[in-house]
Amino acid sequence: LGGIAEHATIALRNAQLLEEARHASALKSEFVSTMSHELRTPLNVMIGYAEMLRDDPAGRLSHEQRDLVERLDARSRELLELIEATLQVGRFEVGCGMVEVAPVPLHALLAALEVSTEGLPRSPQVRLEWMPVVASGTVTTDRAKVALVVRNLVSNALKFTDEGTVTVHVRPQADQLLFEVADTGIGIAPDQLPVIFDMFRQVDTAPTRRRGGVGLGLYIVKQFVDRLGGTIDVESTPGRGTRFRVLLPGYTGDAPPPVVPDQDSGRRDDLDTSPRAPHQ
Ligand SMILES: Nc1ncnc2c1ncn2[C@@H]1O[C@H](COP(=O)(O)OP(=O)(O)OP(=O)(O)O)[C@@H](O)[C@H]1O
Ligand SMILES: [Mg+2]
Repeated sequence: LGGIAEHATIALRNAQLLEEARHASALKSEFVSTMSHELRTPLNVMIGYAEMLRDDPAGRLSHEQRDLVERLDARSRELLELIEATLQVGRFEVGCGMVEVAPVPLHALLAALEVSTEGLPRSPQVRLEWMPVVASGTVTTDRAKVALVVRNLVSNALKFTDEGTVTVHVRPQADQLLFEVADTGIGIAPDQLPVIFDMFRQVDTAPTRRRGGVGLGLYIVKQFVDRLGGTIDVESTPGRGTRFRVLLPGYTGDAPPPVVPDQDSGRRDDLDTSPRAPHQ
């Protein structure tokens, strides 16, 4: 009988702990959302003022002043992005992170991704290369979330690479789309690999710490990839480089080119130049 009572106590205690954990997690999410929101409002106002200053219609800014204002503007935007991302995490955790899926032509998605990674800070000794891909076909996904995923991975690759290249491959694989971001940077120690996707987790070494950030990027990436129904994995060799691979569902290649009708088939009257009905 004592054994049963013991089991019951343990089960009860577990339930209680679970409830406490849920409560704590809800509180944390609420806190994160509120803070992000409160931070965003004044920051947007600051960005507005910096913009006005930068536009400088009277042309009164000196070269140095203009440079300072541009830095101010760039940093505030970075901060805003971070806050937006934190807000997203908060929404996810309360279960209402919306995934808005729509078909996007692959070439349009790629063009948008390239633009969104253009201004990322990097060392002058690092080249960012987008490998040519067959950019035909359509991806049915949440393009904003895909953009955030790729931007975070490229931003990390650039941040943790002092010289060499950061390469982005995008390749259809059957009905999936593969994104691969490879760098020739500092790499990640094997024992750290499993924890880099945790919230606020950064590899605790001097060279990492120097590079800034709060350790939210990969947590968000992982959440987004999960929501999009994809997978992410990473391979890394310290001192040599790192490669992240994201596989997302929703790719459809272009339909094969229409078969040219045979001249003798006698069915040429079928060729209709009017716009095709959508079901054809
Ligand atoms: N390409 C990479 N090369 C080496 N280390 C990496 C790379 N990507 C991530 N890491 C390690 O994983 C940690 C977590 O990455 P994550 O993107 O979550 O945080 P962060 O970049 O430090 O900060 P944030 O993204 O919030 O600005 C990093 O701090 C770094 O130690
Ligand atoms: Mg990051």
